[in-house]
Amino acid sequence: MSASPRSFWDEVARLPGLSAVTDYEPVETCWARYLTVLHLRAIGSALAPRPGDHYLDYGCGVGRITRWLAPRVARVLALDTSAAMIEEARARCPFANVEHRVLEGPPASDASLRELDGIVAIWVLQHILDDELFAATLDFFAAALRPGGVLCCLDRLCREEPRDEAPSYLRLRGRARQLDALERRGLRVLRAEPVSVAEQVLGSPALTRLVKRGRLPLAATAALDLAWARRQRDPFLADVLVVASRA
Ligand SMILES: C[S@@+](CC[C@H](N)C(=O)[O-])C[C@H]1O[C@@H](n2cnc3c(N)ncnc32)[C@H](O)[C@@H]1O
Repeated sequence: MSASPRSFWDEVARLPGLSAVTDYEPVETCWARYLTVLHLRAIGSALAPRPGDHYLDYGCGVGRITRWLAPRVARVLALDTSAAMIEEARARCPFANVEHRVLEGPPASDASLRELDGIVAIWVLQHILDDELFAATLDFFAAALRPGGVLCCLDRLCREEPRDEAPSYLRLRGRARQLDALERRGLRVLRAEPVSVAEQVLGSPALTRLVKRGRLPLAATAALDLAWARRQRDPFLADVLVVASRA
């Protein structure tokens, strides 16, 4: 089982603001904030956390999602393989009901990780491309949820399974493969839909750079997103929100 690229995550954890978990660039861009608005809107429309719930924020990073979740539930366990991310998360999310923990090695269940009401794993599975670790992570999710508990993942997925000769930026997991892996573990997929396709609409790297640097108004990006969504075209590569419920 190959190790997670922990040193990469330890390094980017020190970047300012949300760039630590979205852009990996030394400035927090407008793009990072735009993506976060989109992500939280999608998560909020898919999940209905209740005040008594126990949640796991898996691969919590600096706490971008924990911060949204903590005021809505009884308890959040925030796990990450990177000690530097956890250190940042502790400083940025000092909520009394959040426990931060560094994950050493592949995830394993313990008494605090049973009968959970929900798990969020936002932009995490897309980084676990090792098949064995991916399988171990999904087994862990299935074991940690109570029956009826929900898993909410958001990942950049390919519409079709990438071929070996695909360019490196397309060597992500195919959407069908990810959904099938969930179903095989008794995690019934309730929703799977793209949340942001602006990068694909823009297409050109130069234009994308302009957006990232905040030189194109956010409204223009949002309008493009909306126009694309209206045409209901499934993009080749997109951020896909997946919600599954444990049988
Ligand atoms: C792109 S960041 C996303 C962080 C957070 N979920 C968010 O949406 O802001 C990916 C995070 O996943 C963590 N990570 C990578 N591989 C992991 C693994 N195998 N298990 C748990 N966390 C992992 C990284 O350390 C990093 O903090």
